[in-house]
Amino acid sequence: MSAAILDRFKMLRPLAKGGMGEVFLADDEDTGERAVLKMLRDDVEARGAVDRFEHEIHVLRRVFHPLIPRWLADGEWQGRRVVAVSHVEGMSLAELMGRLKQRLSATTALFLMIDVLHALQKAHSATTDDGLALGLVHRDVSPHNIVCDQRGRAHLIDFGVSVDIRFTDVTPGTLVGKVAYMAPEQASCFAVDARADQFAVGVVFWELLTGRRLFRAESDQRTWKNVLACIVPEVSQFAEVPASISRVVSRMLDANRTRRFATCSDAADALLSAAIDLPMGEVTPIATLNEAQLRPPVSPRVTTLVLDPLADAAW
Ligand SMILES: Nc1ncnc2c1ncn2[C@@H]1O[C@H](COP(=O)(O)OP(=O)(O)O)[C@@H](O)[C@H]1O
Ligand SMILES: [Mg+2]
Repeated sequence: MSAAILDRFKMLRPLAKGGMGEVFLADDEDTGERAVLKMLRDDVEARGAVDRFEHEIHVLRRVFHPLIPRWLADGEWQGRRVVAVSHVEGMSLAELMGRLKQRLSATTALFLMIDVLHALQKAHSATTDDGLALGLVHRDVSPHNIVCDQRGRAHLIDFGVSVDIRFTDVTPGTLVGKVAYMAPEQASCFAVDARADQFAVGVVFWELLTGRRLFRAESDQRTWKNVLACIVPEVSQFAEVPASISRVVSRMLDANRTRRFATCSDAADALLSAAIDLPMGEVTPIATLNEAQLRPPVSPRVTTLVLDPLADAAW
């Protein structure tokens, strides 16, 4: 497929197709760099979806961090709204875990999570042009929405269901985000704040360290019940992890958000302090993967990933 978009981008191939959107790899002909084009599926007409996509574009124009894809342009293509952002060459943590089929070393997991916490902190403290806090919460932090680059840095993507808590859009009975990574208050449809994102990072962290799924069960209903019960086994039951790190994970995963860290930045600081207890000279799985393994597959058979946001059957 080849088509000029916004006169600046040349579509190369599809990257992913979700419940609401489609994502394509493109060339930015202005800069010669790779870009990602995201648009709503042409069969999605729900007003909520259109509004959410506009909100996502608004957020991308406002949040600047080296570990969040950079807004490049937005416009229309064949009557569809489209946003272009910088491309992260690498793979999502979901794909990485699916390929490795083993837990990550505490060192690797810890530094990936510090990256995500820093990116989130930047999003949480984003402001309007007048300097007013946006009150942004991502609400969908999960291994699918964290892309690991070839240097082993983690990038936070997909502000598709993020919310400005000044105008919270919580509708009783409506869950947005992936159930298996939701904080109990989000799964109960209470108004969320930044601490729900911290909890989601806690779930991802727990899973990277143990190589297991924390709340995910055979059905969304059961997963949801597990989230509400919020029983979190100690990481040390499944992996050798310094107690100081295990304590940080448990605090991020406290069912009561008032007992979590006040901010993602505080959680990142606590992790950095705990890093002193990591074994010296540990070889990380990411470092041992060669470049070809970390590069996304290019075979035409697997270039389109079909992602169902709620049915996260695999990683
Ligand atoms: N900037 C990016 N760089 C690299 N891959 C990306 C980027 N944006 C999206 N992707 C890939 O496309 C997938 C879907 O994108 P996402 O923004 O999460 O859409 P959706 O809202 O449909 O979940 C991601 O899981 C990731 O694999
Ligand atoms: Mg996504």
